[in-house]
Amino acid sequence: MDRLMCIVLILSFHNLWKGLDAVEQGVLNFVVLADWGGLPFPPYYTAQEKAIAAEMDRLAQSEGVDFVLSLGDHFYFSGVKDVEDPRFKNTFEGVFSQPSLLDIQWYLTAGNHDHIGNISAQMAYSNISHRWNYPALYYDLQFTVPHTNVSVSILMIDTVVLCGNTNDQVQPVGPEDSTAAANQWNWISAKLASSSSSERMMGARMLSAGVGWSVIIPLVTSAVSLRPGSSFPVLSITQQEAWLSSK
Ligand SMILES: *[C@@H]1O[C@H](CO)[C@@H](O)[C@H](O)[C@H]1NC(C)=O
Ligand SMILES: *[C@@H]1O[C@H](CO)[C@@H](O)[C@H](O)[C@H]1NC(C)=O
Ligand SMILES: *[C@@H]1O[C@H](CO)[C@@H](O)[C@H](O)[C@H]1NC(C)=O
Repeated sequence: MDRLMCIVLILSFHNLWKGLDAVEQGVLNFVVLADWGGLPFPPYYTAQEKAIAAEMDRLAQSEGVDFVLSLGDHFYFSGVKDVEDPRFKNTFEGVFSQPSLLDIQWYLTAGNHDHIGNISAQMAYSNISHRWNYPALYYDLQFTVPHTNVSVSILMIDTVVLCGNTNDQVQPVGPEDSTAAANQWNWISAKLASSSSSERMMGARMLSAGVGWSVIIPLVTSAVSLRPGSSFPVLSITQQEAWLSSK
């Protein structure tokens, strides 16, 4: 995981296929980012993280941002200690502090660096910040594209639980808790089988060979196969419509 790297991906869901006039076309705008987690010493943020916040501010004011998906590495290098940890203020609240950003909801899933620290504390912080939403290690989200009947389903998954944690340059060797991993795989399969949303996506942090990247993939059930047997998740996308943010 490139520790100082921040990624912003702006995704828009247009319902262009509905044949509506441009004026009536609904758009769901959201930001996907990861690896923004500052530093464990003053000032606890990086210039890159500040730049990301500035860019989000610009987008929120120009295009509008409906929500943020944050796919891990929120606090370098070892997550947080507890829910009182000043890093929440110094690395998150104090940086993404522009007025345009204050009411945008964040939905989070953990990265390998977060897992080194106290994950329960990151979840508990959902009760303290009105914009921090991290209800469980993995969970699903439902949105409706404004002015349409198009629903969007997003699975937020935890690849550290699925494949084991890893340090830089080291491959994950498999889940620490195989029951927890199996439970999550079953949950993913059940969600993919049952979702009736018009659009499905998965927000995940992928780990491979010491390189981390965050991915958001539009899922078409028939085109995706998840292979729980491998040491890290394999998503076979035959419908080439994936946006990847990689190193
Ligand atoms: C993790 O954080 C929670 C919430 O602050 C706290 O109750 C718990 O004691 C912490 N766990 C450890 C191991 O410090
Ligand atoms: C938030 O607070 C409620 C009520 O105190 C508690 O039941 C719940 O577990 C808390 N949520 C988290 C994520 O800590
Ligand atoms: C959404 O569905 C309702 C009920 O089927 C329908 O009346 C309405 O026209 C639909 N709206 C759009 C924008 O497709």
